[in-house]
Amino acid sequence: AYPSTVKIVEVGARDGLQNEASVSTEDKIALINGLCEAGLKHIEAGAFVSPKWVPQMADSLAVINGVSVAQDVSLSALTPNLKGAEAALTANIKEFAIFTAASETFTQKNINCSIEQSIDRFKNVMELAQQHDVKVRGYVSCVLGCPYEGDIEPEAVLRVCKQLLALGCYEISLGDTVGVGTPNKVKSLISLLLQHIPADKLAVHFHDTYGQALANIHSALELGIATIDSAVAGLGGCPYAQGASGNVATEDVIYLLQGLGIDPQIDLERLAKAGWTICRALNKPPVSKVSLALQAK
Ligand code: HMG
Ligand code: MG
Repeated sequence: AYPSTVKIVEVGARDGLQNEASVSTEDKIALINGLCEAGLKHIEAGAFVSPKWVPQMADSLAVINGVSVAQDVSLSALTPNLKGAEAALTANIKEFAIFTAASETFTQKNINCSIEQSIDRFKNVMELAQQHDVKVRGYVSCVLGCPYEGDIEPEAVLRVCKQLLALGCYEISLGDTVGVGTPNKVKSLISLLLQHIPADKLAVHFHDTYGQALANIHSALELGIATIDSAVAGLGGCPYAQGASGNVATEDVIYLLQGLGIDPQIDLERLAKAGWTICRALNKPPVSKVSLALQAK
């Protein structure tokens, strides 16, 4: 059965914009404000990562300090290490996101360490989070395949999920970083995970490189997964996964959910408007079929 309610985690301002060369701080602030006006309650607003690695996120502090969001909106940010977590605290972030992968090579390319070292590195991030009453989300990348290693064993994904949960993450987001997965693979991975992890601790984070993200999300919903990551206008990609396109578009996910009778309480028109606004700044149209269809009406 489908879940009765679904939580949308909007990652466009981070996952989407981390791959875009020159977006002004003002445009990022306007995007996040627009997403809030559309009703999104969980917004990943930036990344406190090394500016040498991802210069696009270097203004995260200014962005987060610049937005005006309602009390019930939760802003989160990527915090790969203690330095990032400390910076996130100065921005009054109440939810950190730590990130590793089920692929050794990807982890090395993305965060410059092994999977085991990454878990070790997260321990002091978790400690700081606990001291400050901050929730921590964990990302596992490459759950359905790796741009360097190809197929990834579901057991490898399970292992990393368990390690992140043992550290104290309240939720694990399963990243199909390169968007290579198909519904049968989603079903076998999630079925395995559900033997060890309750559905309410899992989220899906699908990129749409091969056009499979919505089908994959539908499979996850059928298995009871009720948290979906998406990016307005289908923004994005990953700097360490060449050729990977953006996350599934939030507009498309909302339309799917509405069609399934699940009301995510998002104003689709306003959401599409926020997408068009950032896309004008990027000088390209949204990668969302729903957004394009609404525009054509
Ligand atoms: P490193 O070079 O091994 O780290 O990078 P280091 O500790 O040796 O530090 C090197 C320099 O970086 C030092 O500066 C540090 O101060 C600085 P220097 O002395 O050379 O001037 N530094 C920092 N600066 C600001 N904020 C920090 C920070 N940490 C160190 N937090 C590190 C290791 C993890 C920092 C680096 O590899 C990094 O920042 N990686 C981030 C890569 C990234 O952001 N990738 C994209 C996000 S993940 C993703 O998109 C996947 C996801 O969407 C899910 C999916 O789709 O699968 C989440
Ligand atoms: Mg991603």
